[in-house]
Amino acid sequence: MRTSNSLSGSMRRRVVVTTAAAFLGLGLAVGSGLAAPALAADTATLSGIILGVGSNETQRIVTWYSSADTAQQVQVAPTASFPAGAVTFAGSGAANIATSGGYNRHATITGLTQNTAYSYRVGSEGNWSPTYAFKTQSFEGDYDFLFYGDPQIGSSGDTAKDQAGWVDTVNVSLAANPNAEILVSGGDQVETANTESQWDAFLAPTQLKSYPWAATIGNHDVGGKAYEQHLYTPNTDRSGAYYSSGTATGAQSGGDYWYIYKDTLFIDLNSNSYATSQGGGGDAAHLSYVTDVINQHGAEAKWKVLVYHHAIYSPADHAKDADNKIRRVDFSQKFSDLGVDLVLQGHDHSYSRSYLIKNGAKADATEQPGAADVYPGPGGVLYVTANSASGSKYYDITSPDSTGTSGAGNGADPLDPSKYWYNSVQNQEHVRSYVKVQVRNDKLVVQDLRSGTCAAPNAAVELAKSPCAETGQAVGSIVDKVTVHPYHGDSQAIQVNVPTGAPGEFGWTIDGYNGLVDLGTAVDHSDYFEATGSINPIVVSDSRRSLAPWSISAGVGDFKDADKTFAGSYLGWTPKVVTAGAGAKAGAAVGSGYDDGGQGLAVARGLGYADQGHARGTAKLGADLDLKIPGSAAQGAYRTTLTITALSS
Ligand SMILES: [Fe+2]
Repeated sequence: MRTSNSLSGSMRRRVVVTTAAAFLGLGLAVGSGLAAPALAADTATLSGIILGVGSNETQRIVTWYSSADTAQQVQVAPTASFPAGAVTFAGSGAANIATSGGYNRHATITGLTQNTAYSYRVGSEGNWSPTYAFKTQSFEGDYDFLFYGDPQIGSSGDTAKDQAGWVDTVNVSLAANPNAEILVSGGDQVETANTESQWDAFLAPTQLKSYPWAATIGNHDVGGKAYEQHLYTPNTDRSGAYYSSGTATGAQSGGDYWYIYKDTLFIDLNSNSYATSQGGGGDAAHLSYVTDVINQHGAEAKWKVLVYHHAIYSPADHAKDADNKIRRVDFSQKFSDLGVDLVLQGHDHSYSRSYLIKNGAKADATEQPGAADVYPGPGGVLYVTANSASGSKYYDITSPDSTGTSGAGNGADPLDPSKYWYNSVQNQEHVRSYVKVQVRNDKLVVQDLRSGTCAAPNAAVELAKSPCAETGQAVGSIVDKVTVHPYHGDSQAIQVNVPTGAPGEFGWTIDGYNGLVDLGTAVDHSDYFEATGSINPIVVSDSRRSLAPWSISAGVGDFKDADKTFAGSYLGWTPKVVTAGAGAKAGAAVGSGYDDGGQGLAVARGLGYADQGHARGTAKLGADLDLKIPGSAAQGAYRTTLTITALSS
């Protein structure tokens, strides 16, 4: 179903079920930008070109500097038809802050088509930048993104060395992950907010013109406007509440923003603004922002990822900072309530992966340090802090104290007293690393990967600020890896209604881990699409002396993907007894409503039952699912909820 970009105008609709791929081939990218006016030759010098994320996967934002205040644009087209077929998007911007001089420009590219190689350039007629390239991938389904902690170019005192380490990490990470789709910042792009030579060094990796950078503001970026001038972000709320100074018109950068990439809602906060006494809205404003964004857009995505600079669960110098201790109380409960899946943080220049944290405490006391798989129940949130991506500065792991093992406390982990209670894994080797996140249909795989060794480029080590002992761990080796299996309480609720019956004697459970029932990508049969799969087996046990009859039935609501929908009646099934016992018999097969015009599973249907007088014991029930959808259904990744009801007298 992964159709390549089609310029042939094929309009046949394709649909997928619960997972990725396929799209509505709409042909050319169609922009809303203005055509470039005819201009006299413009001699503005163009610099600092960087590709950024847009509001969603169909957009990119290009930001750049210009030496002159002229009308400028971005031209973009599929590479095969560039520049003749290019669409133009008007740039906008303003004069830079006085210390750097020049002007900033940005333009939002819209209407991108999936699985397409694009070329683009910035400037104006007669004065274009070199041509750069980026590609889009499938707009549905699995993807990877990379997360980089504190490049903080200049913090070692040697900008060239910091740049070399940063360039190397970008090279190593993208050579290993060429299909990564977003590069997410942990903040502190530079050491000194308005020092343009540091920004030049940060912008040196050529890949920053081809892979979208999702900027995050750090404490070293906040003290000037260069951050905002270089890194324009989508959907940014520039209300004073999201600036530590209380105003966007001051000398500081700031703002909170969000975007949706495929099935992930990213919310990026200016964590420099943490208290109303500073002037901005502090943590309360951030929390209301996150709440509003999730209320308005949470249903459009299947994952919620928060990104901000100041780690609240981290292992090193900043672990006991007063603002972070406050936020461990302020933020954690709300993030749990809002169903956040993953929080990405920086600032502490060391790697940590938290235990699943719920409402400011370890969600499951039995979660083991370094567990390979974690299963958040309702409210469980994973917090990750990234080490330095550039090697410009490392902070060493610090020791727990006696301030407690929940809330603001920095007490020791009962399972490993060398660590803070909230961290499952802590690591500092004075070696550069980056975090890779694989977003999959029903899991997030988070890894910290070494992008260097003790050897140069490794500025903090080269300059003898941090000792480094070779461990023999190669570039690309894994520091830590964890798979997060989400809780399905909300989107995959399976409920039971037992009106009568003998408590504790008759019951049912989902067999094993209740993963997503993934029907994969529907197969195209011209008139309709078809997908098949099986429900997660259900175990029924009945030890009652009455030998009373029982039955299990289930049905589904409409399939939905944001505002797109199709009827649950298109789903049919063939129940089966997987493991015999308790007198279980399989319910009757029900065909898809596509074939017979019936209700399919849109009404409750019997999965299995036993008659009066059946044997006591345990049975496992399953069902093969058959989904047939009209060919007119819109492309998307749809989900529905299977609601299960047990009855017994
Ligand atoms: Fe920082």
